[in-house]
Amino acid sequence: MASEKTTCASLYTIKTQFFSVILIKDLKFQDDEGHFIFETLEEQADLLNMTVSSILCQQFPPSLSYQQCFVKAILKKCEENNFEICDELYESYTMLIGRSNEVSEVCYKTYFISPDECITLQESTQMISHGTTGLCTWQAAKYLTEWAIENKQILKDKHVLELGSGLGLTGLVISKFCCPSTYTFTDCHENVLRTLRKNVTLNTVQESSSENDYCNKQKCGKTENDDNSYCEFSDTDGSITRIKHLDWEEFTEQEVKDLGSDVILASDVVYDDRLLEPLVKVLSSLLSSSSSVAYVSSTIRNDTTFSKFLDVLDTKSICWQEVKNVPTPVFYYNKDVAIKLLKLSSQ
Ligand SMILES: C[S@@+](CC[C@H](N)C(=O)[O-])C[C@H]1O[C@@H](n2cnc3c(N)ncnc32)[C@H](O)[C@@H]1O
Repeated sequence: MASEKTTCASLYTIKTQFFSVILIKDLKFQDDEGHFIFETLEEQADLLNMTVSSILCQQFPPSLSYQQCFVKAILKKCEENNFEICDELYESYTMLIGRSNEVSEVCYKTYFISPDECITLQESTQMISHGTTGLCTWQAAKYLTEWAIENKQILKDKHVLELGSGLGLTGLVISKFCCPSTYTFTDCHENVLRTLRKNVTLNTVQESSSENDYCNKQKCGKTENDDNSYCEFSDTDGSITRIKHLDWEEFTEQEVKDLGSDVILASDVVYDDRLLEPLVKVLSSLLSSSSSVAYVSSTIRNDTTFSKFLDVLDTKSICWQEVKNVPTPVFYYNKDVAIKLLKLSSQ
């Protein structure tokens, strides 16, 4: 049997994996010595209390089908290994199966940065939905976020702007841990911007101890159906978070100039050949101030598309270099496909 300390660490690992909804086949049910973390009835109850039966799961549930598969996988492992199974485990599974006819297109994923710090995002259950790839968080965003956590000094007191932000993991973590002066999320898709606004609200309101701390609530104050093209949140420490509609295919130089950014970030925006020219055009405009710098992280799914991106950067005289230091892992994601982080500048 595993020591109490090892079991606690393993339970934390499973909890973070469960809430970030990693593939069931990748869940780490055994500790480093090969012991299952739910060998005893007590451990099984603890595991449920930290996952499907927790308050966090009631408030911000991963998809129902994921919860069902999670409990089913534990039951299966217990049966295969002849562990005595606690009643709560059967009850939990029966209860989840009984809800099978509930249909929900949205679910939540909670990304733990440490045992006490996390970001919760509303995400789609599909990788592509409503005609966009922006309603779920991609590996390159997790990589860029890990890089940011380790390179706070590059972002501190800076005006940071993100292109193709998607649902906001990178920006929310940076706003929370890296003290930028302003953080501007941008995207072009209506549903993405709406969900992003919900996610910024969700993570800012949670932190606030009183309604007044969250002065942005009044300032932003938008409802579900309001125009999504711009909203602004301000924090008690003076930092400002903005969400702005910005379409790489339809922007004006003035619009980009008004954004005034020192550091530009983007993740998983290099995937469609047709978007490479517009993307580089907006990068070129943003980098026209010689002190600005951009960091773009990309999952290399297609070498040809990535090479084309580098070619277009060259034609616009944007200098690039690969940032080779791999950041310390914080999140769970598939590491089999290469992710590259490029630093871009106009000099
Ligand atoms: C693959 S998703 C990546 C989202 C997020 N950065 C991540 O890594 O999780 C690509 C994002 O680029 C945005 N996008 C695509 N075309 C765009 C355009 N023309 N202008 C602005 N954003 C665009 C999409 O809406 C989507 O949010």
